[in-house]
Formats: sequence, C-alpha cells, structure tokens
Amino acid sequence: MKAKNNPIGIFDSGLGGLTVMKELIAHLPQEDIVYFGDTARVPYGTKSKNAIIQYSRENTQILLESQVKIVVVACNSSSSYALPLLRKEFDVPIMGVINPGARKAVQVSQNHQIGIIATSATIHSRSYNKAVKQRDSQAGIFSQPCPLFVPLVESGWFDKKASQLIAAEYLDPLKKHKIDTLVLGCTHYPLLKRVIQKVMGEGVTLVDSAREIAQDVSQLLDRKGLRADRTKKGNYKIIISDEPQDFQKIADRFLGDAAICYKLHKQKI
Ligand code: DGL
Repeated sequence: MKAKNNPIGIFDSGLGGLTVMKELIAHLPQEDIVYFGDTARVPYGTKSKNAIIQYSRENTQILLESQVKIVVVACNSSSSYALPLLRKEFDVPIMGVINPGARKAVQVSQNHQIGIIATSATIHSRSYNKAVKQRDSQAGIFSQPCPLFVPLVESGWFDKKASQLIAAEYLDPLKKHKIDTLVLGCTHYPLLKRVIQKVMGEGVTLVDSAREIAQDVSQLLDRKGLRADRTKKGNYKIIISDEPQDFQKIADRFLGDAAICYKLHKQKI
C-alpha cells in the first residue's frame, strides 16, 4: 500500500517531460514530485522497441527507489511501447500519455479527421491510431513523424524562420487531409505550439497530451485515495543520468513560468 504523501514519479527520455511536470505542478501543487530524465540515453524516438522497453523498465525501477506512489510515463515513445509491460511487471499504478491525448482529440474533433505528430518510434508503434480508433472507429487518422522538432526545441528555436519552414514541410501534408484536430504526441512539441498553429491555421485545435494527463493523474489519485493530505506546496527532485551542457537553460525552457526550486541528483545507469 502506497502512502498518500509519497511523491508522484515521472520519467522521460530526457528533459522534455518537464512539460508534463509543469502541468502536474499546476494541477496538484501540494504533491511531491520526483522526475527522472534519462539524459544519458536521449533520444528514445529514434531507438528500437526493445531498447525503449528496457530503458523504460530501468527508469521505473529508479523512480521506485524514491518510494513513488504512482509512475507517470511522460515520454510518448515509452508510453507507446512499454506501458502494458511496465504495468505487468511493477506493482504501482502506471499512467501513460497516449490515451489522454487520444481521448481529448476524439472529444474536440468535429469532422473526425485527426492528425498525429510525434517521434518516429511513436508513429511507428501506431499507438495513437489504435487509441483514437477505439474511441471513434470512423475517424480518419493522419500521422507525421517530426524528428527535427526535438533539436529545434532543445536549441530554443521557437520562433525562427527555419522552424517555420521545417514545420511547413512536415505539416503541409496533414493540411491537405483537412484535419481539424492535431495531437502533439511528443513531450517537446508544446513548445512549438505557436509555430505549429501558424502553419495549420486557427481552425485546427492542438491537443497537448501533457495537459490531458495532468487531469487524469488528479482523478486517479482521488480514485485510489492517494492525494497528498498536506496543505503546503510540494517538494521537487529532478534526477538525471547525465548532466548535459546547458542543463539549466534547457530545463528552464521546459518548465517555463513554473519556476520551481528542486534538488538535482545524478544517477548512474
Ligand atoms: N520524450 C520523447 C517523446 O515524447 C521525445 C524525445 C526523444 O526522442 O527522446 O517521445
């Protein structure tokens, strides 16, 4: 039995999952959070299914050492490939980002034409396609991997001309399908929202999986009686498997205005 005041655990391939942590902090300010970013092995989006599963398993083990009460898989590539297996292997509630994003897309789409953008691994797994189809069998689903978005975000190139051009190159084929909803199926993409919206036009609703999962986590904590029963603000710990150059700058980009204080730990993998 997990104690209510134990932390929520989140893992991601790197620092992109801090977008999910930011949403969790906004929704659940009194919860302690331990974040593990596998900065030594990022990116996952170009790796094989087996590698992603193995890394995800190790990441979950690392979080369990901090006595987390639930595990949130912030990484879309891990959620796509490893979620069923992690749930089988570990005795802790584990949530991924695919179902919350797919559910929201089905809710908001009027014309049943839904676009998915994500890493190559996530697109290849067809996880979003399956999750959308389960909820709307009539939906037309159009997928596009956008591998260059990850380095663009990590470099802070949110508004550059080059980012516009790259976004147009990736997204123009989706526009031809007249989608009215686009799922941002990667931890990094919410930071490119402005550019993506500009290319897609105002008529297309962008679905941010990070935002959706925060609501699901909140509901799960209530359902399981696991909501922290303290009134003060939570404590935050970030564990990384390697300290990248510019760690602080990159982390700040993902955390944005959340501006939290956290303890930083390094973990050997
Ligand atoms: N966190 C990854 C995801 O959401 C993106 C970065 C990577 O490729 O590792 O799929």
